[in-house]
Amino acid sequence: MSHILLLLATHTYRAQDFLDAAAALGVAVTVGADGSQALADLVPESTLELDFGNLEGSLASIARLATQHPIDAVVPAEDEGTVLAARAAETLGLPHNPVEAVVGARYKHLTRKRLARMGVPGPGFRLLSVDDDPEVAAAQATYPCVLKPVLLSASRGVIRANERKGFVVAFRRIARILEEPEVVERHDPAARLILAEEYVAGDELAVEAVLTNGELQVLALFDKPDPLEGPLFEETLFVTPSRRPESEQKAIGERVAWAARALGLRHGPLHAEVRVNEQGIYPIEIAPRSIGGLCSRTLRFGAGISLEELILRHATGMGISGLEREPRAAGVMMIPIPSGGILRAVGGVTEAETVPGVRGIEISIPIGQNVVPLPEGHRYLGFIFASADTPQQVEKTLRRAHRRLEFSIEPAAAPDQPSSLM
Ligand SMILES: Nc1ncnc2c1ncn2[C@@H]1O[C@H](COP(=O)(O)OP(=O)(O)O)[C@@H](O)[C@H]1O
Ligand SMILES: [Mg+2]
Repeated sequence: MSHILLLLATHTYRAQDFLDAAAALGVAVTVGADGSQALADLVPESTLELDFGNLEGSLASIARLATQHPIDAVVPAEDEGTVLAARAAETLGLPHNPVEAVVGARYKHLTRKRLARMGVPGPGFRLLSVDDDPEVAAAQATYPCVLKPVLLSASRGVIRANERKGFVVAFRRIARILEEPEVVERHDPAARLILAEEYVAGDELAVEAVLTNGELQVLALFDKPDPLEGPLFEETLFVTPSRRPESEQKAIGERVAWAARALGLRHGPLHAEVRVNEQGIYPIEIAPRSIGGLCSRTLRFGAGISLEELILRHATGMGISGLEREPRAAGVMMIPIPSGGILRAVGGVTEAETVPGVRGIEISIPIGQNVVPLPEGHRYLGFIFASADTPQQVEKTLRRAHRRLEFSIEPAAAPDQPSSLM
């Protein structure tokens, strides 16, 4: 029986789906949990408590585990685990992405530098630190631009600025996010870096793929039908298959393959975001992991296998050739966060679930807990899943279902965040 080490970040949404996939495949799993009791309790008999911020310590723990129970593959579910996974696989002599390539994908400024060096078209960029003077940086920037923390994910701290004043406000807001304990405790110097990039106009798509010996196989291409023009970039709708012309879809796949090659990524899952406009196709992010949140639930391959199962098959060398996504259109809405505060009630779920085509609704913040909108927030409010004959119908279904949901959020007593961004 194969044995997989599954690396899960504290905030993971993927634990259950990966564990179900492993059970379906008959693969043994050890959860490498990043310092969270809730995760460690999930499968207490096969959990390795790790600290992703302490690479060397984590590697030593993994090496000890491997001597007791040989490991066949190390699979990171989120960005936070990708470098550790590559390092561990390297040490254990398992197929993996080169560590340097994963580091290049993990840090947004390195991604930009390496893509630019290899000639992959992308926005101009400038690396800043929270210790820089934002007034000076603002005077040197070109507009519009996007400011973003080098190390965070899920659009947290990603803010568009159209002019100098907006730049300074955005910069200060990001600097405050980077002071949050959860970020500081990562003990990564790059957590103090901010990247300023030219704003790339256009439509955005997400590419889900897998690399085998450097060869990219696109598993799904998602349109993001809601405009993402800022100032914040909250993820909402993902719908597959894409409605873009076939030739353009092919070109997007080729562009992502080029970007992956430029970074040196060769093995395992790949998630990319690209923007497309009249000038061309621009990779925004290339990550050696699969799609985040619960979005993978939109995907089914072959006779109904999940993305997680496909990934575990691939990781254990079972082969995935011939596994195509089901022909039906499918999609997800990451439910937008209407306001910040305590989530008191969620209404209309039953009504939304009865919209034809809706495949499920998951509210992922428990009643009574804090809901934090972007740019500070990093938890999804929930997910609506749908499938239909066409992507247009999927989009309509998701919007209809969403209109039926009602969130009662009690504002925090003394909001301490500035509301103006521009
Ligand atoms: N240079 C840019 N031009 C236009 N939009 C951008 C740019 N950079 C980021 N964005 C928007 O912000 C979103 C999140 O940025 P990204 O770099 O992917 O960070 P994260 O790791 O948080 O997802 C992107 O999906 C895109 O919509
Ligand atoms: Mg992204």
